[in-house]
Amino acid sequence: MELFRQDVSALSVNDTASLLQPIMHFISTALLFGSVAVQAVLGRTGARRQPTLLRRTVDSFIETETPIALGQLLCNIGADGCNAKAAFPGLVIASPSTENPDYFYTWIRDGALVFKSVVDRFINTYDADLQRHIEEYIAAQARLQGISDPSGSLSDGEGLGEPKYEVNLTAFTGAWGRPQRDGPALRAVAMITYANWLIQNGYSSTASTVIWPVVQNDLNYVAQYWNQTGFDLWEEVNGSSFFTTLSQYRETACPDRCSLALVDGSNLATALGKPGGSYSAVAPQVLCFLQSFWVPSSGYLDANINVNNGRAGKDANTLLGSIHAFDAKLGCDAATFQPCSDKALSNHKVTVDSFRGYKINNGLGEGKAVAVGRYIEDVYFNGNPWYLSTLAAAEQLYDALYVWNQAGSVSVTDTSLAFFEDLVPGVATGSYSSGSSTFSDIVAAASAYADGFLNIVATYAAPNGSLAEQFSRDDGHPLSARDLTWSYAAFLTAAARRAGIVPPSWSNDQATSIPGTCSATSVVGSYSSATATSFPPSQTPKAGVPPPTTTTPGACQTATSVAVTFKELVTTVYGQTIKIVGNTDALGNWNTNDAVPLDASEYTSSNPLWKGTLSLAAGQVIEYKYVNVNPDGSLTWERDPNHTYTVPQTCATAAVQSDEWQS
Ligand SMILES: *[C@@H]1O[C@H](CO)[C@@H](O)[C@H](O)[C@H]1NC(C)=O
Ligand SMILES: *[C@@H]1O[C@H](CO)[C@@H](O)[C@H](O)[C@H]1NC(C)=O
Ligand SMILES: *[C@@H]1O[C@H](CO)[C@@H](O)[C@H](O)[C@H]1NC(C)=O
Ligand SMILES: *[C@@H]1O[C@H](CO)[C@@H](O)[C@H](O)[C@H]1NC(C)=O
Ligand SMILES: *[C@@H]1O[C@H](CO)[C@@H](O)[C@H](O)[C@H]1NC(C)=O
Repeated sequence: MELFRQDVSALSVNDTASLLQPIMHFISTALLFGSVAVQAVLGRTGARRQPTLLRRTVDSFIETETPIALGQLLCNIGADGCNAKAAFPGLVIASPSTENPDYFYTWIRDGALVFKSVVDRFINTYDADLQRHIEEYIAAQARLQGISDPSGSLSDGEGLGEPKYEVNLTAFTGAWGRPQRDGPALRAVAMITYANWLIQNGYSSTASTVIWPVVQNDLNYVAQYWNQTGFDLWEEVNGSSFFTTLSQYRETACPDRCSLALVDGSNLATALGKPGGSYSAVAPQVLCFLQSFWVPSSGYLDANINVNNGRAGKDANTLLGSIHAFDAKLGCDAATFQPCSDKALSNHKVTVDSFRGYKINNGLGEGKAVAVGRYIEDVYFNGNPWYLSTLAAAEQLYDALYVWNQAGSVSVTDTSLAFFEDLVPGVATGSYSSGSSTFSDIVAAASAYADGFLNIVATYAAPNGSLAEQFSRDDGHPLSARDLTWSYAAFLTAAARRAGIVPPSWSNDQATSIPGTCSATSVVGSYSSATATSFPPSQTPKAGVPPPTTTTPGACQTATSVAVTFKELVTTVYGQTIKIVGNTDALGNWNTNDAVPLDASEYTSSNPLWKGTLSLAAGQVIEYKYVNVNPDGSLTWERDPNHTYTVPQTCATAAVQSDEWQS
């Protein structure tokens, strides 16, 4: 498999060959589909075939990879995860790898991003096992907050800036890039999202007594320290990081200023009757400072400022910042660098283009999806693409597509023109509504571009679906830490966005207003150890526990129409035709003049098969009968009763219904 994959990749300078790679890769799991698809590529290379083929390839990857990703993610959570038995309950190990590199620690950032994805998934589909993990996570974070570590202690909050801990809830005391100030912000966001779910389902007192004390320490930390430098998410640069600042903004804006879906016009602090004034003084100032990362002359976000590190600052840091602050309600707002904002799209282009020089991206020109690393000057493991960066490039586009489709329009501005020109050559600035051909062209091209990034991940994932931290810039083989938890979370969130599942809103009406002048306002907070960390049992959804489902959300899109093949066994004589007629337009509304003829191409005397395929709406209940039409036009109806059939409403876009003549 490995050799074969390399053979194919030698040809990968054109689309056809690069599309083939994942098909070969998944041929063992999707043999039938694979062979059909290969024929389609080799036989008909018409331009219109390729987007469909790419979409199906990615559909099939997502279907195969989703259970693997979820399973491996849970494997990395203590204490019952298969790779994390040594970890305290609720702690996420970054990777099971214990040497070269040793990632058998718990990072506050990684754990928070992983649990935000778990909470979002839980909110979408209630799952008692995920709820237990979420509650164990919060209880464990309360314990970590209280630990005195090399960054400091809880008494003045400084200890909360510590980036990583031993998995047995003790401090890691080795040399490290510390503090890292994104951790408390990201952790608060994950916990607030779960607290909101509790409030919405009638468990405000749990949110208030168990979660709020933990959240409050993190909120106070951000309000106090946001305006000081620290190490970036890659743990290398001591300065101000875009990812950190945007995470901090989202977090300070939320408890005080966001309206929660069901807690009208309120917010976590006021919903719980807690003071929140300090955050509302700070949040606009964080937003004000956030604008300084934009480099207008070159149309991108400089990932690190307040530091002189000799890098251009083109960095997946900024793609990650944008997707983790996504709020569909904000539309394409540029102040918060929403994924579809003109600034974030321009930044997407400049950042992605900076990686086109990797050998495995050879020949993939602007507008073609490529393997994305952290930043081009990277030397860690010689500097390679990362799965989570490549997935972030996809996720930003899926977020944008969601908003454009909801709004029914897309705007091309001077700032975003270069991004759109790569996708739709010759496009002009302007606003295009759904129904216009430009809107359709942009949506089709952006969907294919987004799927292209997922296709890269499909191509270079390990054959068993395992996602490491990196893959080689030269030949794409997996590198560095194996089974990186964050890689799996990044896959799951990208797949969910592609399926149109978006996270809850965090913003309110003022979330995008930038003060006229920036100031360094910060507020000294008080900190105390959260000790009441046991959750009451059975906090199930107000609407009841849904029945277990076999389809995992995010695994695929539910089909809207299904190609149903009707197979009828009926012995006929030469000249007779079997037709199907029933109670919908597609079935002729019981009018035998509009009955649909079936075909007898597979008919034999031992297997008298008549068959035909109709496109029917998923979920529709139909009634129908077969009729036998003689050469003179006279009819023989099947005996009663009518057949009834419910068109399946699942991921499957095809189904078969088999009947025998009722005589
Ligand atoms: C926690 O784990 C670290 C690293 O394995 C070890 O050095 C330390 O002794 C452990 N502490 C306790 C209290 O178990
Ligand atoms: C603090 O905020 C001020 C005002 O926005 C800004 O000029 C300064 O660079 C910030 N410093 C840090 C380290 O965030
Ligand atoms: C990080 O930079 C700040 C200045 O912005 C400096 O005061 C601090 O000592 C630096 N920290 C480390 C660990 O180098
Ligand atoms: C999948 O393969 C990788 C090597 O490519 C290996 O490290 C990992 O343990 C495998 N995972 C499973 C679940 O077999
Ligand atoms: C079959 O459907 C037709 C059209 O709706 C209806 O007239 C007929 O009574 C149905 N037959 C039976 C047995 O329900």
